[in-house]
Amino acid sequence: MTYRLTNKNVVLGVCGGIAAYKSVELLRLLKKQGATVRVFMTRNAQQFVGWMTFQALSGLPVCSDLFERGEDASFKHIDWAAEADIAVIAPATANLIGKLANGIADDALSTFLTAVQAPVVICPSMNTNMFLKPAVQRNIKTLEVHITMPKLDHLKNSGSQQRTICHLETRGIISGFPRPQFLPPRVLS
Ligand SMILES: Cc1cc2nc3c(=O)[nH]c(=O)nc-3n(C[C@H](O)[C@H](O)[C@H](O)COP(=O)(O)O)c2cc1C
Repeated sequence: MTYRLTNKNVVLGVCGGIAAYKSVELLRLLKKQGATVRVFMTRNAQQFVGWMTFQALSGLPVCSDLFERGEDASFKHIDWAAEADIAVIAPATANLIGKLANGIADDALSTFLTAVQAPVVICPSMNTNMFLKPAVQRNIKTLEVHITMPKLDHLKNSGSQQRTICHLETRGIISGFPRPQFLPPRVLS
């Protein structure tokens, strides 16, 4: 449906994974649907895609430094959290998932995630061995967020355990907005 995200504030978090290039297309589609999109990038994400690409496509400043110098006194990790209707982390690295699962806030994106009250969608993307590591699985299970899980059949049939999961179904994520109905929220018991 066209323009269903009009007047919605989406925060897109981009981590340092090989699928970071796919979040450029996700941003484009979110904008096409009418959303205002603000982008956090981790430092490592910038090894894969340049911040200028996200700034040019979003039309807004990109935040990757928690302690950036600015012309105003705003703090993006708090202000963007307060304004967000939804946050989507795509791709989400094993590292970011581990931080989120343990309440670690040591950079702009992870600090934002500790502050945001809006629904959060996490899109894990990593090497199969990394994804299946018990510690990573344990972290994923504890998250109080919506998760786009890799297709497990796809994993089983991949043959090589070295195969990278680039599970970032941009259209699936878009169709779930503004309320991601397609995934059950994970609630701590
Ligand atoms: C070429 C390359 C590709 C990588 N791809 C991934 C990936 O897809 N998923 C992942 O979790 N980590 C990946 N990593 C490792 C992360 O970059 C690393 O864990 C980093 O600390 C993540 O930082 P961030 O979560 O702050 O972005 C990759 C590293 C390299 C060198």
